[in-house]
Amino acid sequence: MTLPPPAQGPAPGPSTAPVPRIALRGGGTVPQIGAGTYKIPPERTRDIVRDALDVGYRHVDTAEMYGNEREVGEAVRASGLDRADVFVTSKLDNPYLEPDDARAAFERTLADLDLGYVDLFLVHWPLPTVSDYVARWRVLEEAYASGRAKAIGVSNFTVRHLERLLAEADVPPAVNQIEVQPYLVQDELRSFHARHGIVTEAWSPLARGQVLDDPVVVQVAASHGRTPAQVVVRWHLQRGDVVIPKASSRDRLAENADVLDFTLGEHEMAAITGLDAGRRTGTADPETFTGGH
Ligand SMILES: NC(=O)c1ccc[n+]([C@@H]2O[C@H](COP(=O)([O-])OP(=O)(O)OC[C@H]3O[C@@H](n4cnc5c(N)ncnc54)[C@H](OP(=O)(O)O)[C@@H]3O)[C@@H](O)[C@H]2O)c1
Repeated sequence: MTLPPPAQGPAPGPSTAPVPRIALRGGGTVPQIGAGTYKIPPERTRDIVRDALDVGYRHVDTAEMYGNEREVGEAVRASGLDRADVFVTSKLDNPYLEPDDARAAFERTLADLDLGYVDLFLVHWPLPTVSDYVARWRVLEEAYASGRAKAIGVSNFTVRHLERLLAEADVPPAVNQIEVQPYLVQDELRSFHARHGIVTEAWSPLARGQVLDDPVVVQVAASHGRTPAQVVVRWHLQRGDVVIPKASSRDRLAENADVLDFTLGEHEMAAITGLDAGRRTGTADPETFTGGH
């Protein structure tokens, strides 16, 4: 397809602009670009998170499920950065359906990270067929009330799950972390979030690399002299979502965050959004996923 010429902008080059931050319900802000750590083995995590912080990331996304919380915490502590300057997210893993087990899991996350508190703690999956996600949410509300989770949210919740949670919760979720990428643009769920003050965080934002050789993305990238990954990260930013691409090398980490000095035009944004095919990269369906139970 042929796209209109790109919007004019400054020449490409390393950006010195700060990463925008998005306000979270209940206070605080989250940097709009974070470093994902799923499938980064613990023995590589310290170096990769050190590189991420070194090239300018101030937001790291981990989870008990990823098996690398301890190493994420070590890298943050070793960075010399002020604790308040790094935003760390972790998640309640699927085995812990009972409140006491969920409480113990939160304590374990805090101990493994060893950062004093976690900036954002999420229910990793709703598991609606095997658990009462509102009962698990109550444990996150306790964590928030204690000040040891500065913000709380959910992940992989659908509109149906959010409606029930919003009706029953004392503290509404600040965030829903869901799969969003050009083949799964999630606009219905994203507008529900917008109407209810919930920030959308995009996981697998690059569709695990699958979208990087899409002809539309490649063409937009070429017309800006940028890489496909940069164009996709930029598309997420301009949609207003938080984006947490995962990369395993310092060069790719830097590349994915070097997106603040160009702008996609309206037609380019629409062309990328038009790639939507309702196609998940992840295999689990939030309505039916049981988390192994
Ligand atoms: N809440 C949830 O249920 C959930 C589920 C999935 C993911 N997440 C979070 O979201 C993060 C991101 O998702 P993801 O890891 O699934 O997928 P992703 O970020 O969409 O894609 C990661 C893949 O893209 C490659 N890549 C990264 N930058 C690249 C570049 N500049 N050029 C070419 N290839 C590049 C990576 O390769 P290399 O690693 O080899 O560099 C890796 O194979 C996760 O790490 C995790 O923190 C959350």
